[in-house]
Amino acid sequence: MTYYPKVIGKKCYLSPIRAEDAAIYTRWFNDLEVQKNLTYPVPIITLEAEKEWVANVAKRGNVVFAVVEKKHDTIIGNAGLHQVDQTNRCAEFGIVIGEKAYWGKGYGTEATNLVLDYGFNVLNLHNIMLKVYSYNDRGLGCYKKCGFKEIGRRREAKCIAGKFWDEVYMDILDREFKSPFVKGLFK
Ligand SMILES: CC(C)(COP(=O)(O)OP(=O)(O)OC[C@H]1O[C@@H](n2cnc3c(N)ncnc32)[C@H](O)[C@@H]1OP(=O)(O)O)[C@@H](O)C(=O)NCCC(=O)NCCS
Repeated sequence: MTYYPKVIGKKCYLSPIRAEDAAIYTRWFNDLEVQKNLTYPVPIITLEAEKEWVANVAKRGNVVFAVVEKKHDTIIGNAGLHQVDQTNRCAEFGIVIGEKAYWGKGYGTEATNLVLDYGFNVLNLHNIMLKVYSYNDRGLGCYKKCGFKEIGRRREAKCIAGKFWDEVYMDILDREFKSPFVKGLFK
């Protein structure tokens, strides 16, 4: 096995990211169907830039995992926590299921729950927030199912294909989270 299951769900698990997956990430992040949903500016991503990102992501205080489909140990995305603030116990959530064949099948929801579980029950975070564009129905659906609630909007902050869209802010507190993989280890 080339991945290392760390937080394990029914359909997928979180594993440390691997340097050799940089080419796969490069494909995902240059796919406009994927990229249009990402809430940070993504220029044209070269393989070299992606290798650099993979090598340095953890050093910048991010906790990012590969999302691996469980049955075949296939990487389908990555997900994690950024700007982890241990003093105030806050962080920002980000996810991409880059393999589009896996969209809409529950993988994003499960991977989100696994990251929240790690964030709340291992890192002892209190508040996890995210940003999502108002046209990203699949993202909004996934986050609501995991317990995120809308806390506000930056209006018309995304401009794409000649139209403005809102940037939606959502968050969840540790006491609102229900998916206790980590707690299950202590029964
Ligand atoms: C957003 C993302 C993580 C969601 O993961 P996913 O595995 O596709 O989503 P899920 O199947 O777990 O859940 C999607 C939910 O939204 C609902 N939904 C709402 N509108 C939808 C739409 N237009 N298409 C598909 N699903 C939709 C689905 O019905 C589903 O809920 P259900 O299981 O109760 O039916 C994934 O699609 C992805 O990575 N997309 C590209 C990058 C991205 O958007 N990243 C997030 C940036 S904020």
